[in-house]
Amino acid sequence: MDNPYLPYPVRIERIVTETEDRNLKTFRFVFLNEGDEEKFAYTPGQFAELSVAGKGEIPIGIASSPTEKGFVSFTVNKVGVVTTHLHNMKEGDVMGIRGPLGNCYPWERMEGSNIVIIGGGFAFTTLRSSIIYMLDPENRDKFKDISVVYGARGPGLLLYRDELAAWEKRDDINMHITVDRTEDPDWKYNVGFVPAVTEQKITSAENAIAIVCGPPIMIKFTQPVLEKLGFPPENIILSLENRMKCGIGMCGRCNLGDQFVCKDGPVFTLAQLKTMPPEY
Ligand SMILES: Cc1cc2nc3c(=O)[nH]c(=O)nc-3n(C[C@H](O)[C@H](O)[C@H](O)COP(=O)(O)OP(=O)(O)OC[C@H]3O[C@@H](n4cnc5c(N)ncnc54)[C@H](O)[C@@H]3O)c2cc1C
Ligand code: FES
Repeated sequence: MDNPYLPYPVRIERIVTETEDRNLKTFRFVFLNEGDEEKFAYTPGQFAELSVAGKGEIPIGIASSPTEKGFVSFTVNKVGVVTTHLHNMKEGDVMGIRGPLGNCYPWERMEGSNIVIIGGGFAFTTLRSSIIYMLDPENRDKFKDISVVYGARGPGLLLYRDELAAWEKRDDINMHITVDRTEDPDWKYNVGFVPAVTEQKITSAENAIAIVCGPPIMIKFTQPVLEKLGFPPENIILSLENRMKCGIGMCGRCNLGDQFVCKDGPVFTLAQLKTMPPEY
């Protein structure tokens, strides 16, 4: 077995600045060694440790979909030491990726269901991976209706704006994009917080599974909306972002009760979380 602490060497192929405040960038990496892309076989919902030489490693959700070949991408918010170094790197620079790590969204269980995706802020990354995966012609028939509620504080803080516009035009996905506030007279989507828009736009929990990713405050207020709509806790799927170090269940940095968020998670059902200590 390969050493799980050794990153795969990758080259930064492309960097896209996503938001007007320039704090969110998407990094597209290509593997340097033949065969490493196949070894890094991942499923939407998983994450990886991005390794910047001499600076450290950070856990980041995988934003690309396994249906997109030849690269893997991550969207990174600049908050501290390693993320700032990453933001200062240039296309062509070489670094490392360790993974894929953690579990994924429960794809087998989701087949045949209506899927409700609810995201807020930059936590939309693994949801972008999931949407691309479900819309792939090989996969679209496996899922019934796909509805997405995605919000940011303002229009300039939405991720993947070209893709959002393209999904808006499709008739096999129901998009409900929202911002907390805007003074843009040309804004043509919703204005309001994600939980409120979810309550307005998602009308049925029948045969539906909801995946929710976002800041803790959004999750806190979205959870009761989904429960009121009739989603049972086992059909509400959440992804956690606890502090992590090793990412493979060895260091004990991330545990929640007897679960390691890095290895048993980061994806849990609300039913599972209700049995765990309340600090999630
Ligand atoms: C499974 C998982 C998936 C993630 N996916 C993404 C992603 O797709 N995009 C993204 O931008 N970030 C993601 N994060 C968060 C990311 O790992 C942290 O922002 C990053 O580790 C900060 O590193 P730093 O060295 O720049 O910050 P530091 O210098 O270590 O800290 C800077 C600030 O960030 C806070 N911070 C550090 N780590 C975390 C954390 N894990 N959660 C909350 N606050 C933290 C610190 O308290 C401090 O205020 C994810 C985290 C996990 C566990
Ligand atoms: S990060 Fe080490 S056990 Fe989870």
